[in-house]
Amino acid sequence: MDLDTARLSLRRPAAADVDAILRIHRDPRTCTHNPSDALATRNEAEAVFGRWDHHWQRFGFGYWVVRRHDSAMPVGFAGVKLVRFGERRVLNLFYRFAPPAWGHGLASEAATAIVAWATEALPEYAILARVRPDNVASQRVALKAGLVRAPHLDGPGDDGLDWIFTSGWPNEPAGLHDTQS
Ligand SMILES: CC(C)(COP(=O)(O)OP(=O)(O)OC[C@H]1O[C@@H](n2cnc3c(N)ncnc32)[C@H](O)[C@@H]1OP(=O)(O)O)[C@@H](O)C(=O)NCCC(=O)NCCS
Repeated sequence: MDLDTARLSLRRPAAADVDAILRIHRDPRTCTHNPSDALATRNEAEAVFGRWDHHWQRFGFGYWVVRRHDSAMPVGFAGVKLVRFGERRVLNLFYRFAPPAWGHGLASEAATAIVAWATEALPEYAILARVRPDNVASQRVALKAGLVRAPHLDGPGDDGLDWIFTSGWPNEPAGLHDTQS
């Protein structure tokens, strides 16, 4: 399952992408808000690849490796993964890009394509982004991808309080579309 946007190709990660997983997750700037995601060793990166690959094997989608069309070097990772959220299974929206690629709208471009694809292909699942309150860039990406702020779903995450952004959450209360960022 591939996705393409104007500037980006999204492909299923392969074992050869472990180096990029390590490069991007070992850069302290990429895990400032989510230190529990930081990686230090190749073994850890292999374990992350193994979890991502297992999800792909099981469900036929997951987190993609993102490249510009004109380059073989990965610029980041983005995608959706099935997770349990309270009583529901939802699609966790994820994106993490290499700092040299930041600030060019790439994460927004990838996330927008992913949300559009998931909304069409997996309509039975709500999409959730769990974002730390200080992570303004990530919140902007979630909103630009079409998610809305859902304060009534906020709660503790792996690194502290998570603010929730969602698309497709059932019974959205009135006023939910008043986004905050
Ligand atoms: C979040 C992240 C993926 C954004 O990547 P990006 O390619 O720079 O994003 P975009 O260029 O599409 O920019 C998205 C928006 O964030 C804004 N932004 C970027 N950096 C920002 C910052 N430090 N503070 C405030 N806003 C910022 C941009 O201005 C843009 O908003 P706008 O279009 O309304 O002006 C990137 O910063 C990253 O990889 N961070 C580390 C991993 C992470 O936190 N992932 C999310 C976990 S929930």
